[in-house]
Amino acid sequence: MKCKITLLPGDGIGVEVTEAAVKVMNQVADNFNITLEFNSQLIGGASYEKNGSPLTDETLQSCYDSDAVFLGAAGGPKWENLPHHLKPEAALLKLRKALGLFTNIRPAKIYEALIDSSTLKKEVLQGTDFIVLRELTGGIYFGTPRGFDKNRGWNTMEYSYEEVERIARMAFKMARERGKKVTSVDKANVLEVSQFWRNIVHEVHKEFADVELKDMYVDNAAMQIVRNPKQFDVLLTSNLFGDILSDIAGMITGSLGMLPSASIGSKYSLYEPVHGSAPDIAGQGKANPLAAISSAAMMFNYSFGMQKAAEVIEEAIERTLAQGLRTPDIFSEGCRSVSTEEMTNAVIENINEIYHNQALGVFTL
Ligand code: IPM
Ligand code: MG
Repeated sequence: MKCKITLLPGDGIGVEVTEAAVKVMNQVADNFNITLEFNSQLIGGASYEKNGSPLTDETLQSCYDSDAVFLGAAGGPKWENLPHHLKPEAALLKLRKALGLFTNIRPAKIYEALIDSSTLKKEVLQGTDFIVLRELTGGIYFGTPRGFDKNRGWNTMEYSYEEVERIARMAFKMARERGKKVTSVDKANVLEVSQFWRNIVHEVHKEFADVELKDMYVDNAAMQIVRNPKQFDVLLTSNLFGDILSDIAGMITGSLGMLPSASIGSKYSLYEPVHGSAPDIAGQGKANPLAAISSAAMMFNYSFGMQKAAEVIEEAIERTLAQGLRTPDIFSEGCRSVSTEEMTNAVIENINEIYHNQALGVFTL
């Protein structure tokens, strides 16, 4: 099997964590006997500096020509004051829309070795394992009219029937493979668009009688995620609510540096760590590569149908953490402080060991 991947390292630590993820991808490709072909392109501030645009047609075309896209991070204070359409963030939004990536998957799970480094209590966290399923190409992020003048600013939270239907269907399908429970998060007590959302989710639910459906208002959901995160399995929500709730859910893992994501459409898919470009630590070997590496695991799983490879990577991350290796963002007393590269190499060693033992039939996942 040959897979074409467009790499978009982007800005700041995006470059270092992409390098780490590529190293891991190459190792896995080696072990599982597939061929990966990489094409690296600019995005965000890096693209703006060279081309005067945060996303060029060339970059977009490369994504269209690939089996999957891997993105590091885009953004930084240097480009904060540019007009809206030239900001690195605009590139990300345009890319999501152009590739039709309507499903955003952000897992919130506990790494056993990190349970004490979360700001939440161990008893609250233990056993937590859910995904935030965020609608990514509609809602207030893209609705029109939008704008501001001297006296007023406005945006439009808008969803079409099809947009809600397809993400709802995705949520029920995913829940069926997991804990069989969907919590649909909205603000139907105030917003018409949310009532519309809720009606459609219930209609789609009729096709999935084996999956439990619960509605929850977004303010309550924000509280429930930190009060009792174990209650969630698939948390389905719209673009803006999902943006906020996935950051809250991010703290369950202890650090944003641990959180992977997948954005999937009917034709294309993109994988990226949830964290940003962290310009304050860029280029110093301090970045945590695990979110990027875990995003690569999602790529093997969702884009290439290699679930086993994904499991090996995840298991290697767990083992590396259990061995006490920590980048500064997750460091705690008694652990070994390591660089981006050392962490990456340790994960690779663990991948090889797990793969080798598995190949010999000694260890099964
Ligand atoms: C995210 C980010 C983006 C978003 C920004 C950078 C445009 O916060 O991926 O969660 O709001 O979607
Ligand atoms: Mg966000």
